[in-house]
Order: sequence, then structure tokens, then C-alpha cells
Amino acid sequence: MKVCNTANLFLFIYSDMEQLKIAIQKSGRLSEKSQELIAECDIKITQGKRKLIGISEDFPIKILFLRDDDIPQYVSDGVADIGIVGENEVLEKDKDVNLIKRLGFAKCRISLAIPDSVEYSGVEWFNNKCIATSYPHILQNFLDEKGVKATIEEISGSVEIAPSIGLADGIFDIVSSGSTLVSNRLKEVEIVAKSEAVIIANKNLNNDKTKLLDEILFRINTVQQSKGNKYILLNAPNDKIEDIIKILPGMKSPTVLPLYQEGWSSLHSVVHEKDFWKINDKLKELGAEGILVIPIEKMIV
Ligand code: PRP
Ligand code: ZN
Repeated sequence: MKVCNTANLFLFIYSDMEQLKIAIQKSGRLSEKSQELIAECDIKITQGKRKLIGISEDFPIKILFLRDDDIPQYVSDGVADIGIVGENEVLEKDKDVNLIKRLGFAKCRISLAIPDSVEYSGVEWFNNKCIATSYPHILQNFLDEKGVKATIEEISGSVEIAPSIGLADGIFDIVSSGSTLVSNRLKEVEIVAKSEAVIIANKNLNNDKTKLLDEILFRINTVQQSKGNKYILLNAPNDKIEDIIKILPGMKSPTVLPLYQEGWSSLHSVVHEKDFWKINDKLKELGAEGILVIPIEKMIV
């Protein structure tokens, strides 16, 4: 059953409930993907004129559009019930929240970088140096752990230009593709932490809100499970069906239906796209014809 068909029923069942307030990034590296994720859960959001709050007619939800740095605080205070935020902000702000789920997008590293012309001898290079960053808490923990004494210059943006203007010897910042470092003639010398988008939740959600969160997590899982998986249909002579099934990893067992043409069957299964390209030639060698590969929107397993 398609999830959106259940949306109205769901709203009816849960109509007495409070709304689940979800904080997402207003603009920046996570905002587009966070909104996409909500849309993939079949929750349509209408934004107000000032784009600070979004509401939905299909789900008891309120979206708060916030700066990513503020999200851990708002979730721990209960201003928002849950938040979609970079793990980097969760680590930095160190608030009392539950980390519910890693989402697999906005992957990056938080790294130390220095001018690429400078020779790097190891982490002790940073002794008595000045490091510019927007992540002083994560950096201080790392320096303490390594026994390095350095000055931290906290700045809120454009960290990467600090060495070239003489503000710092090195930087500690997010690295994703690495192009910001290259264009500022910096090199990554220590990866301190890895980060991706995560869902965090307030520690005192009531039962109704916990149920709403569970429903959202269920929808996210069905979308994520379908990612990369394709529905495959093919026709094959009956005497080859056994051999084809052997090379076709299905969800359980493939469906085999007789074709009008005697001695032939149609075979339906689910295959991961990367596996499909590995077995494509083999399928044809085994006599498969009319191979169709179709996207899957949601998978409930
Ligand atoms: C981060 C970071 C770098 C850039 C790195 O900035 O501060 O500038 O991303 O990404 P890259 O390795 O793909 O070049 P962000 O986009 O989060 O903006 P902000 O610095 O304004 O917060
Ligand atoms: Zn930011």
C-alpha cells in the first residue's frame, strides 16, 4: 500500500495529538536534502511568507526553519521536539539530546588544515600556533587529548581565509569535497571527526510525540530501503529460469509467471542497481529477453 494513501487516515487517527515540531536548517548545506527527506515521507509542507515556520495538512507536524548552529539548543530546550542537523553541530554544542538516526547525507569531515607550502611534522606542529575555527569545543577536546597547546581563534564564517590574512596559522573546519581547501591553498593534515546529517530528539518526548517520531522514522526507513533498489522484470525460457534465479538476489523468492508463449515465463524480482550491472551480461547469456528495470519508490520489508 502506498504510504500517501494512508495519510488522511493517519491524520484522522492522530487528529487529537499535538504537533511534532521539527527543526531543520533554514539555508545551507543540509536544508535542501532535509526538505527532500520530509517530502519523500509524503508529508507536504506549506511555508509561511517569512519562511520561518512550515505546516502540513497531511501530518501533525510543524517545521521550524532555523540556523543549524541553534538546532541542538532548541531541541534540548524543547522548543523543537526533533531536529535534522549535522553531527558536527551536535558534537560542538554538546547538548543533552538523543541521537536517533544517522541519515547518510551531508557527509563531511571536520579537519585541521594548514597552508600547503608548509611542511607538516605531525600534530605537535600545532604547539604554540593559532587555529581559526567555528568549532572551538571539538577542537579543544582534540588538542587536550593530544597534549597540544595552541590558541583557538573562534570565528563564525569564512574560516578558510584566516591563514592568508595572517589571522591564524591553520584552520579547523568542515571538509566535504575539499575544493574550499584547494582554492585557499590549504591542505588537510588531521581528520578529527566525521559527520553526516542526523536526527536528534528532545529527551522528554511524551507518548504522542514519540508515536509521531516513530511513524516518521518508519517512513524514512521505507524510503531509504528502496534507494538503489530496482524492480526487475524479464522474460526467459522455462529451462533457464532456475539458472537465472541463482544469479538474481531477490527480496525472498522471485515471482515467476507463465507467458502466453509456451515454454516461456516472466520473472519479477528486486535487485540493487550496482548488482544489476554485474549480472546484466550473464542474464542475456542465459537467454533473458525484454529486461525491464524500474525504480521503486518505497520498500516495506
Ligand atoms: C563549509 C566549510 C567550507 C566548505 C567545505 O562551509 O566552512 O567552507 O563547507 O566544503 P568543500 O570541502 O566541499 O569545499 P558551509 O558550506 O557549511 O558554509 P559556512 O562556512 O558558511 O557555514
Ligand atoms: Zn553553519
